[in-house]
Amino acid sequence: MSVHKSDDMRKVTTHRLSEMKQRGEKISMLTAYDFSMASILDQAGVDVLLVGDSASNVMCGNTTTLPITLDEMIFMAKSVAKAVKRALVVCDMPFGTYQGNSLEALSSAIRIMKETGADCIKLEGGEEIIESVQRILSAGIPVMGHLGLMPQSINKYGTYAVRAKEESEAQKLIADAKLLEEAGCFAIVLEKIPAQLAKKVAESVNIPIIGIGAGGGVDGQVLVMHDMLGITQGFSPRFLRRYADLFSVITEAVGNYVADVKSGDFPNEKEQY
Ligand code: KIV
Repeated sequence: MSVHKSDDMRKVTTHRLSEMKQRGEKISMLTAYDFSMASILDQAGVDVLLVGDSASNVMCGNTTTLPITLDEMIFMAKSVAKAVKRALVVCDMPFGTYQGNSLEALSSAIRIMKETGADCIKLEGGEEIIESVQRILSAGIPVMGHLGLMPQSINKYGTYAVRAKEESEAQKLIADAKLLEEAGCFAIVLEKIPAQLAKKVAESVNIPIIGIGAGGGVDGQVLVMHDMLGITQGFSPRFLRRYADLFSVITEAVGNYVADVKSGDFPNEKEQY
């Protein structure tokens, strides 16, 4: 498997993502939640870094994305934005900060932009939240949409199973994608839907479609960093490719450290003053 890191070291912008779609260059996106990892991922050449509300699971230990707060997202996005030189930095708007009221949505988005240094925001939903999307866009804040499986609505679905298998849900998803494009969103994440449907959406809109569990017919891919690096355990959906086994690497390294401390081998004479 060969990796083609872009030679183009210019800052990635929403406009450049659109150009990538036009010329058929796939977009790479990963989540990041802290300064050190964001710096590594940025230098490794990933195009988009998402400060995802999956932080609620992988950073905070919650079972859903619902509990994470705006303050917690801002804390993480600020650290990520400080580290990044090239990637576009997207910050998720957490549950409860944009659904009910478009004015509240705008003030949440403005807080993210003012306090973090992120380049744009992402939120989940279509028609139901279009007023919030429009109001945020009217303030000059770029918006990435998110359709298909929307983890903030887990209590409505009751399951993380593949979405939009039924024709009616598939039709609504296509209509929502077009609505988000018309409103001015610069890209949309499609999560866990049939590959054929995702391809159809990518062909029906001019903005980039970034998939997670949505097959290869879309314009780019996103994964949760902890999953693709093998830090998380007991989570192995079909769509996930693990590129490393950091759980084992870290467990072995820490085990060796503990053993060296216990035996008195660490520190040795060269490792002291
Ligand atoms: O929060 C997140 O990590 C996400 C990705 C799964 C796209 O929204």
